[in-house]
Amino acid sequence: MPQSSTPTSVYEQVLDQSNRANPYPLYAELRKTPVARQDDGSYVVSTYREIVALLHDPRVSSDRLSGPDVGRPGEDERSGEPPTSFIHLDPPAHDRSRRAVMRHFGPPETPGRIEGMRGRITEIVTTLIDGFEGRDQVDIVHDFAYPLPVTVICSLLGVPREDEPRFSKWADALIETLDPRTEDPERLLATTQREMSSYLNDVIESSLANQGDDLLSTLAADDPTCGGLSRQELLANAILLFVAGHETTVNLITNGMLTLLRHPDTLNRLREEPELIDPLVEELLRYEPPVHFALRRIALTDIDIAGTTIPQGASIVLALAAGNRDPDRFDNPDRFDPDRPDNEHLGFNSGIHYCFGAPLARLETQLALTELVHRLRNPRLLTDPPPYRPNPRLRGPSHLPVAFDGVAPSS
Ligand code: HEM
Repeated sequence: MPQSSTPTSVYEQVLDQSNRANPYPLYAELRKTPVARQDDGSYVVSTYREIVALLHDPRVSSDRLSGPDVGRPGEDERSGEPPTSFIHLDPPAHDRSRRAVMRHFGPPETPGRIEGMRGRITEIVTTLIDGFEGRDQVDIVHDFAYPLPVTVICSLLGVPREDEPRFSKWADALIETLDPRTEDPERLLATTQREMSSYLNDVIESSLANQGDDLLSTLAADDPTCGGLSRQELLANAILLFVAGHETTVNLITNGMLTLLRHPDTLNRLREEPELIDPLVEELLRYEPPVHFALRRIALTDIDIAGTTIPQGASIVLALAAGNRDPDRFDNPDRFDPDRPDNEHLGFNSGIHYCFGAPLARLETQLALTELVHRLRNPRLLTDPPPYRPNPRLRGPSHLPVAFDGVAPSS
């Protein structure tokens, strides 16, 4: 007898690679059921109001140990190696760890760290675009957006430049662990984290000996008994900064160039009005965000929302990119409009896990897009839509071939 085929849920269609280039019509379908139970017992939340409510709800946990597997013999406490980075922790452990890193990254105690990187980032951007001279086409991903954030994060952490290629390899492995379709992601994660920890530990030792002022050595110099991180915590969070800041920034820059080339009026306007770059990047984070789904959350208790009860222990998928296109929150949401007022997008999340690296990501993307637009003469897309990476959560093109008629000198 023929098997009756199970209808594919809208969320399963979103996960299907064939819909990666344009998942937005499916997100409109998803929003018809703001909180949708899936066959595996998880809940997909797709409307702006409900996503924000859950992101601010202390009954929703980011801690993987809150899940249904907790209580399995030998796995009911955090005894394994390495310690968890703060993205996977709930308060108070989350807040303590995040604060310890933030002290050396941003205001109020270190207000100048990111702004102080402007010159170095400009130099990296300029060098990459100088490398386009003599060519009439490039792959914006491979030749520009991919190398930029690795170089920036290595410079922030204090990793020697010659070791950057190792980081590209680790970045690929770590991104693979975030893809819901990867088999045995925990094993890949453990191997990669072990290699990175051992390498970063050596970097810390040598920069402590040289009294460096990079982020890793200032963090390592803090006393763990006075709010500082233990060495193992520091290593776990250094890896977090790296993984959270790499592919995301690659995708924002690439999505930005793609969107500008699809909206030539805005591209020309940016040439005339450089200050447009600030609202333009915010609108990109709403319209083509790099992170389409937040990391899975767990309901700590039954939660009633939008006429549905999410039961205790259920896993929750927050579809940030669907919330960003919710017509109940944004007028004409499918329109790319850098002049949009009140643009409180979910591109960097909301609540206590709001993106830690947002100021750095903004600065990198603003400098990158401004330079590309000013220096590439008559840039054109060679394929539209471009090919996409398979990952539905961190969504972005795998290649973005662009043709142009020469490179203007840097100003
Ligand atoms: C365009 C680039 C970026 C985007 C779109 C982005 C987006 C996000 C989002 C959506 C989250 C929330 C994840 C969740 O809770 O499920 C997040 C968290 C985080 N991001 Fe970013 N990010 C970007 C760049 C960066 C950079 C450059 C860094 C570091 C230098 C960074 C570090 C972090 C960290 C550490 C967290 C965890 C915050 C916490 O749990 O308190 N991100 N980011």
